[in-house]
Formats: sequence, structure tokens, C-alpha cells
Amino acid sequence: MSSPDPVTVMKQEVGRAAAARVKSGSIVGLGTGSTTAYAIQFIGERLASGDLKDIKGIPTSFQARVLAKKYGIPLISLDEADSMDVAIDGADEVDPNKNLIKGGGAAHTQEKIVDSLAKEFIVVVDDGKLVKSLGSTFLLPVEVLPMAMTPVMKALENLGGKCDLRMGVKKAGPVVSDQGNLIIDVKFTSIDNPAEMEKTINNIPGVLENGLFVDVADVVLVGEVKDGKPNVYEL
Ligand code: 5RP
Repeated sequence: MSSPDPVTVMKQEVGRAAAARVKSGSIVGLGTGSTTAYAIQFIGERLASGDLKDIKGIPTSFQARVLAKKYGIPLISLDEADSMDVAIDGADEVDPNKNLIKGGGAAHTQEKIVDSLAKEFIVVVDDGKLVKSLGSTFLLPVEVLPMAMTPVMKALENLGGKCDLRMGVKKAGPVVSDQGNLIIDVKFTSIDNPAEMEKTINNIPGVLENGLFVDVADVVLVGEVKDGKPNVYEL
């Protein structure tokens, strides 16, 4: 059997580092994406070995729910949680102020609800996600009610954005979110004031949520491959 490539090992290590920070008795927000998937796996492995006890997860997506079930993490809903101790989630871009763009997996609406409720939000990324300014490498995902797609696109274009309806892979037609909505990916030449932009976009009637996460992240764990070996550091 061939060993996994360094990038996969690095994602595993950053997921493991986040999972290692979870304490027994915690309620844990479970994020979405390929890096967080490893954190969910390692939380499950710690539970199975007895190293971790009495954990309850709150999933941010269908994917997180399926993985939690696979790795034996009991789930609860936000209705049953008085508070949440920690959330672990990935990101598509991270700026020097720990502001993020998320939504590469079209899950940013539930992710923002869960991540922002946690007492500590730990972001797990590889160093390719670090940017000087948000929007430089990744398009900004905006979740929109299907009947409002056209007016929302016009409003986003009036803000200077170039819009693309996200299309499915191995599925004809658009990506449909876990809430049954559409995702518009928007290219802005620059996002100078992410806090202002987040509010302005969410004010457009028909927009459910956009992928700007401003002042939500507490800890950013970054994975890198150095001299062919994975390494994890805190931003
Ligand atoms: C999903 C997300 C993901 O957390 C983000 O896309 C990062 O995913 P990955 O770890 O696979 O790169 O925001 O909506």
C-alpha cells in the first residue's frame, strides 16, 4: 500500500492538533471540509480509546453529520446545547487579522451559526490558505434563495462583483446547499473592509449568508510541509 502524499499527511496533522485540544465533557462544533474531516476522525479515535469522554458534537453540514456518525461522536442540536465549548472548522482564506473566507463546501451558513456560538473557534488550514487580503485567491460564496438569484446577482454586480452560479460536479445543474439554496461565487477586485462588506451583502434581500467570517476565529492552526515533512504551527 502506498503511503499518503505530504499534503494529505499535513492535513491529517493539523486535524490531529485541533482534535488534541478538545477536553472531556465538551460540546464541540464540527465543521465541514477535507481538513476538518481529519479532526472529526481523531476526536472519534480519542473517544474510542477512552482518552476523551462525554463529548457531544453539533454538526455544520450533512457531511459533518455523516462523519460524526461514522466515527462514533454523539450529536445534539443547538436547541439542546446551553453553550458550546469549542468549534473546529476549515477555511478557504485567512488574513493576518484571522478574518476568513469560507464556503468552499457551500456550508458557510450553518458553519457561521455554529462557529460564532463557540467559546473558542479553532480554524484548521494549510499554509496555502494564508493571504494578505481576503478575496485575493478565492471567490466569495454567497448563499441565495433560488427565486432571488437574478436580483441578488444584479445587486452584487452593482457592488463591483463578478458573479458565477456554482455548478455541480457529477450532477447536471447548480450546487444546491444543505438548506436547498443556490451558491453564487463572487469575484471582487479587493475586499478592503471585510466587516462592512459582510453586512452590506447580507442586507441584500434574498441573501441568506455570505462566506466572510469577521472576528469569529480565535485560534488558527496552520499546516505546512517543510523539507518534505508536515509541521503544524499556530498563527
Ligand atoms: C466548507 C468550508 C470549508 O471549511 C473550506 O472550504 C475548507 O475546506 P478544506 O479543508 O477541504 O480545504 O468552508 O463550506
